[in-house]
Amino acid sequence: MFGFGDKNKVHKVTIANTGETFEVTGKINLLQAAQNAGIDWPCDCKVGSCGTCRAVLKEGKVKELADFAYTLDGDMLKEGYILACQSSLKSDITVELDKSQKAVEATKM
Ligand code: FES
Repeated sequence: MFGFGDKNKVHKVTIANTGETFEVTGKINLLQAAQNAGIDWPCDCKVGSCGTCRAVLKEGKVKELADFAYTLDGDMLKEGYILACQSSLKSDITVELDKSQKAVEATKM
């Protein structure tokens, strides 16, 4: 049935490099949905400032809940990185995720 607006829309997430999939219902963010699904998704601050939760968006569209450019540098943005804790889904998506990655600051040193 339709008519629920965006609230109950379900989008599918595929993590290309691990083969894991999970669903995001409504407006919860990508990180929250991954954790609800029991996915071991790296994260730290959960407010968009550390970059630990970043993933490369390969297919699909997300809505930026905060400007990624505050946290991710130009090269990362060009490579298609998104912040899972600051993304809600506009479509089904496919991402690549390095589960061993650390905060962005740590990788710049
Ligand atoms: S968990 Fe820190 S930016 Fe997402």
